[in-house]
Amino acid sequence: MLSLPSSFPTSARCSLGVLHPRRLQARFRQAVPVARSPVVVEGEAAVAVAAAAGAVDAEAEGMNSTKDRVGLGWRPDLAAGIFEHLDCIDLLEVIADDFFDSPRRERRALNTLSSQIPVVLHGVGLGLASCETVQTKLLDKMARLFDEVRPEFWSEHLAFVRAGGIEIGHLAAPPRTSQNVEAAADNLGRAISVVGCKPLMENIATLVDPPGSTLSEPAWVSAILDSVDCDSLLDLHNVYANALNHGYDAREFLRKIPGSRIRAIHIAGGKLISAPDGTTRLLDDHLHDVPDPVFDLLEEVAACSPHPLTVILERDGAYPSMLQLLAQIQRARLSLGRGRARRTATQKQFA
Ligand SMILES: [Fe+2]
Repeated sequence: MLSLPSSFPTSARCSLGVLHPRRLQARFRQAVPVARSPVVVEGEAAVAVAAAAGAVDAEAEGMNSTKDRVGLGWRPDLAAGIFEHLDCIDLLEVIADDFFDSPRRERRALNTLSSQIPVVLHGVGLGLASCETVQTKLLDKMARLFDEVRPEFWSEHLAFVRAGGIEIGHLAAPPRTSQNVEAAADNLGRAISVVGCKPLMENIATLVDPPGSTLSEPAWVSAILDSVDCDSLLDLHNVYANALNHGYDAREFLRKIPGSRIRAIHIAGGKLISAPDGTTRLLDDHLHDVPDPVFDLLEEVAACSPHPLTVILERDGAYPSMLQLLAQIQRARLSLGRGRARRTATQKQFA
């Protein structure tokens, strides 16, 4: 469950504010990006990679001729490690809302960042899947930031974050109804018009299946994407968590959403918690390592997706060492490689 930054009280705020542009540039000079190469990890991280992947996977990664990429969510706490290992990270995802009202020096720093490594913007506070009209002032801020940063793409969530004048403070799942599909389509239309290009829309995790829903989640997601011809940022930990929490098969979910719309993917980790009714739920807190089933789902998507995929590892706290994060990035590359190898084999079989 991703907390909202900027105007919301949260410990997960992301900002470049700690870095003056000159310091940022100095760090870049120390870590000039070179051609992407397999990350070399040692110690505990190396064990994790080896145990999870195995020797065959190195071959699988080599078979990934699709231009898939794996990057990391930008967090100030990770800045030093990121700059030290830019050659192992394909791109960075920056929380857009953190820069909506930030001082000019921070926005310049973000610009410097985007000139050194591909950057994508991720919105968390627009609340596009709401029956309330999206706030024009927020869209204007997103548009201004987009024009300044010129990211490869921007994304937002299929969620609502405010209602009746109350800011909820986190991403909330609306009732999945035809009425909500229409409202989301209206909001997306406004967003596309103001920002000037379509966002990728992300599925969210929810501990409680929204009461009053008349549509399944795959049907609801597909209907909104179709309504404005938008592509998808598929959060695989959210798929995994919802499947566990609401009792369905995550792979079945993948089969029901339009694979041709998947352009980007989030991977993350969470923890099991006890619900008041005595059942166990998976909380998507982004504070834990990516679990094995999420890597397996990533392989499944890669085995079916016709497009290059951009994968982002999300981590919002309880940070492990950078080498451990890089090991998870490498595992994602291996999962992609295995999936692409399967896809190639299938295509040959039916050629
Ligand atoms: Fe996500």
